[in-house]
Amino acid sequence: MEMAIIIRSVAVYLAILVIIALGHGLPDDQSPGAVLNWFKQFPQAKPKLTKFHFYLHNIVSKSPPASTPVARAAITASMPETSFGLVNVIDAPLTEKPDSKSKLVGYCQGLFAFSSQEERSTIMTLNFVFTGGEYNGSTLSVLGRNHVTAKYREFPIIGGSGDFRLAHGIGTASTYFLNKTTGDDILEMSFVFYRYIIPSGHSEGSIPTRDYRGFYPHLILVAMIQLGHGLPDDQSPEAVEKWLKQFPQAKRKLTKIHFFLHNNLTKDPPTTVTVAQANSTATSPTRFGLVSIIDGPLTEQPDSEQTIGYSQGSFSFTSLEERSSLLVSNLVFVAGKYNGSTLSLLGRNPVDAKYRECPIVGGSGDFRMAHGITTISTYFQNSTSGNTILEMNCIFYRYVTDDE
Ligand SMILES: *[C@@H]1O[C@H](CO)[C@@H](O)[C@H](O)[C@H]1NC(C)=O
Ligand SMILES: *[C@@H]1O[C@H](CO)[C@@H](O)[C@H](O)[C@H]1NC(C)=O
Ligand SMILES: *[C@@H]1O[C@H](CO)[C@@H](O)[C@H](O)[C@H]1NC(C)=O
Ligand SMILES: *[C@@H]1O[C@H](CO)[C@@H](O)[C@H](O)[C@H]1NC(C)=O
Ligand SMILES: *[C@@H]1O[C@H](CO)[C@@H](O)[C@H](O)[C@H]1NC(C)=O
Ligand SMILES: *[C@@H]1O[C@H](CO)[C@@H](O)[C@H](O)[C@H]1NC(C)=O
Repeated sequence: MEMAIIIRSVAVYLAILVIIALGHGLPDDQSPGAVLNWFKQFPQAKPKLTKFHFYLHNIVSKSPPASTPVARAAITASMPETSFGLVNVIDAPLTEKPDSKSKLVGYCQGLFAFSSQEERSTIMTLNFVFTGGEYNGSTLSVLGRNHVTAKYREFPIIGGSGDFRLAHGIGTASTYFLNKTTGDDILEMSFVFYRYIIPSGHSEGSIPTRDYRGFYPHLILVAMIQLGHGLPDDQSPEAVEKWLKQFPQAKRKLTKIHFFLHNNLTKDPPTTVTVAQANSTATSPTRFGLVSIIDGPLTEQPDSEQTIGYSQGSFSFTSLEERSSLLVSNLVFVAGKYNGSTLSLLGRNPVDAKYRECPIVGGSGDFRMAHGITTISTYFQNSTSGNTILEMNCIFYRYVTDDE
């Protein structure tokens, strides 16, 4: 065969493979080229509201346990009510029914850290890895808060892979079973999220000109903190689903919140505790390898006593060149109109820079589907004690449905 014919045959064969991969099940080809092709067709994609309901078996009394502590702070032992500073790793099976022998649909794999000094509440950074049936190999990424004693715990689904590329939505957890002696628990989980279906057989798309959340009419309003009203009273999975169904018609509101985060290391207990470090951290000028958990109060003014919320999460020094941390945090609002709502932050914080921009990747309550930016700057710093007051400017889009 001549070279040109071989090349043409290969090209035809590849084109057929690409067409087969479109539109159904996990894309067989997860190469960068296939992902690029998916994105080129994205402008024609249809958002599809998708619901999952399953049970998570966090059985710790078996060997090996489904979740286990991997790090803790020195003071964690003295705070048994909250376990503040305890970091766990989890790989728990997900099943269709409460019975652990019912059909396996996947695994919950990730980290959760107890991040409150006042209640049992964690920050969760989790991947949900689906192994059953048509979604085999696809994942959903979760970053949010789990206040474990609340009836319903709402958390953002901030992304996905495979069939769930660009997914965004809300998950709800509630305790189905708990053995207080062993700590074994089974969580009932409801996920509602948008994913994107590319119509099959579609030719290569045009250059995307809209952002992926741009499929509904967007009316941009600037809202200050006094707009909006309270956490939706009903946080049940049914209420969350109803809200997400109305999401395509929701009004997009630009929202600004400004406050100060107090990191006080001299009070007892301190707001920030070290949970892990490398051997080399002690001699590192940039504290490379230091992992800390924070529960720092937020106030409207730098000197005010009244707490409007907390920044609960972790930061890890991840640069050899400068003092810069990976920030993974929930902003939990406890006062005023946004009482009970949260924002999820995931970004970089080079602490000596004047302004540090950190993405807001999701939210709960009034801030469902939020996305935006938090700009952090140091308002006050005592280099002797290490105490700091950080000024934080959050600017983000949130979504208000007709019912609200
Ligand atoms: C899921 O995918 C993996 C790897 O591609 C494969 O080994 C496994 O058999 C699949 N499972 C199901 C239930 O399809
Ligand atoms: C909890 O676990 C203990 C120890 O294994 C067991 O004796 C007890 O029956 C369990 N309780 C429930 C409600 O399953
Ligand atoms: C830290 O807490 C201590 C004890 O509560 C207090 O005296 C001090 O003013 C606080 N420092 C800052 C910077 O807030
Ligand atoms: C850290 O230091 C301890 C004690 O000197 C040593 O046992 C351990 O192997 C070191 N770990 C690493 C990763 O170098
Ligand atoms: C915030 O909400 C909680 C729980 O719903 C409630 O107990 C608390 O009183 C509220 N706080 C404020 C300041 O409204
Ligand atoms: C800084 O912290 C040190 C040690 O806690 C304290 O003695 C000093 O007064 C603080 N300075 C300021 C400006 O707050």
